[in-house]
Amino acid sequence: MVEGQTVLRAENISKSFGTVKALNNVSFDLRRGEIHGLLGENGAGKTTLCNILYGMVRPDSGKIYLNDVGVRFTSPRDAMAMGIGMVHQEFTLIPNLSVVDNVVLFTENSGLLMNRSEAAERVERYGSEYGLKVNPYVKVSELSAGEKQRLEILKVLMRGARILILDEPTSVLTRIETVELFRALEKMAADGRSVILVTHKMDDVLSSAHRITVLRQGVKVATLENRDVDRSTLARLIVNRDVVFSLEKPVSQAGGPLLQIQDLRYLDTSGVEVLKRVRLEVRAGEVVGICGVAGNGQKELVETVVGVLKPTSGKIFLNGREVSRLPPSRRRELGMAYIPEEFTEGLVPDFKLWENIVLSTPISARLSSRGLLNPLRVRAAVEDLIKTYQIKTSSPDAFTWSLSGGNKQKLLLAREFYQKPTVIVAHNPTKGLDIAATEYVRRALLELRSQGKGVLLVSNDLDEVVEMSDRLMVMHAGRIVGEFSHQSVDLDRVARLMLGAS
Ligand SMILES: Nc1ncnc2c1ncn2[C@@H]1O[C@H](COP(=O)(O)OP(=O)(O)OP(=O)(O)O)[C@@H](O)[C@H]1O
Ligand SMILES: [Mg+2]
Repeated sequence: MVEGQTVLRAENISKSFGTVKALNNVSFDLRRGEIHGLLGENGAGKTTLCNILYGMVRPDSGKIYLNDVGVRFTSPRDAMAMGIGMVHQEFTLIPNLSVVDNVVLFTENSGLLMNRSEAAERVERYGSEYGLKVNPYVKVSELSAGEKQRLEILKVLMRGARILILDEPTSVLTRIETVELFRALEKMAADGRSVILVTHKMDDVLSSAHRITVLRQGVKVATLENRDVDRSTLARLIVNRDVVFSLEKPVSQAGGPLLQIQDLRYLDTSGVEVLKRVRLEVRAGEVVGICGVAGNGQKELVETVVGVLKPTSGKIFLNGREVSRLPPSRRRELGMAYIPEEFTEGLVPDFKLWENIVLSTPISARLSSRGLLNPLRVRAAVEDLIKTYQIKTSSPDAFTWSLSGGNKQKLLLAREFYQKPTVIVAHNPTKGLDIAATEYVRRALLELRSQGKGVLLVSNDLDEVVEMSDRLMVMHAGRIVGEFSHQSVDLDRVARLMLGAS
């Protein structure tokens, strides 16, 4: 229990967006030295509350107090000046710039001027102090999701934040990265900083948070001491019903190969061999899972398979046909669907919901008559998808940026499944999803499998890949270093292989 004084307090906050009541009379308080977990279903209002505390969104009513003094933020700049920093659900880094240049850019408009070598020195100093190491000189596009997350936190620390608001920092992290992150958060708390931690992973909060607040449809359900809750109570508070954590997976008989990857090599921009002659096959009716420590070639494997990256050599066959040189859109037309690793990939934020759905050429072809999109059919189809996937939105004409993080992920999944793929390449498919949506998506993937389709599942969530896969591959340093059938998975051995043991 943390008995520290209250550093930040929100009182009776309400906020509506059009007809959506995102927050309804919510009160919240954060203590000095506390890690405070914030939980709730997709669209429950977590990000909105964080954005209000950070001065990014103005509440319709309610008050905010910082150290018992009433404050009114007009922008994040005000909040930052008072020592509040936020790491957003989606990365805000500029991919084509290096780590230091991102830091220089971020701190420039805070009045904290530094040159590149000072920035590099700080990245290293803060990095080693908090165990959040990032190489200052690499390009951000070459960082793993975990490294990007670390960099986002370092940026906020460097600006002197005493209160850190972290919106789903662990959704794309591997177990090891999550543990490292928590160690850093615990150190920050011990230094007297305070942390708001938004997450869908109950184990995360149960292992690290001092107190936990649950939101449901914009209303605060409870704030509890960690020791007073367990997994199932917490789940019931979040969804307001009992939740069973189990996935039925009927035995499947794998058929012929649908996806064949032969001797795939990829050299990155600095000439490093990131993929070293990867060979693998996904057969009909099979889920093939890939696990590994982030940054061992998983992302490049996925991206070369779907056509976002051009392999240096090697071949990819989809349903017997070579697709190695085809652009992503052609691969889609031939039956490949793709769920990218990060939220920011795959959807155009400024597009309306329906526009993002028909972005997929096989879908737009299906909803067209004589080469023209049929608006009525598009509307009916998109309304149907919104219902099926329980996407929380006002209409198919809403802009995609207005969706909550998890609802964006649902939109993307809806499109990829609606495409009726032969093979789906799914990278972290359940990131950002709440418990119910996670279950739904896992079932949908298994449903494709029982229809005789193929699933290539790459996930940073080890439990997820182990549970879902008929065959599990371990990737290390650009190679597949181990293969297990579902029945023969030996977790100790998997862990050792992930770390490079032979
Ligand atoms: N700028 C906006 N315009 C319109 N609606 C919005 C806007 N921001 C949020 N909303 C709506 O407010 C509700 C709460 O969204 P919020 O992002 O706070 O949810 P969340 O709890 O963070 O969900 P998730 O777990 O999916 O990230 C959602 O229905 C969302 O669509
Ligand atoms: Mg959110």
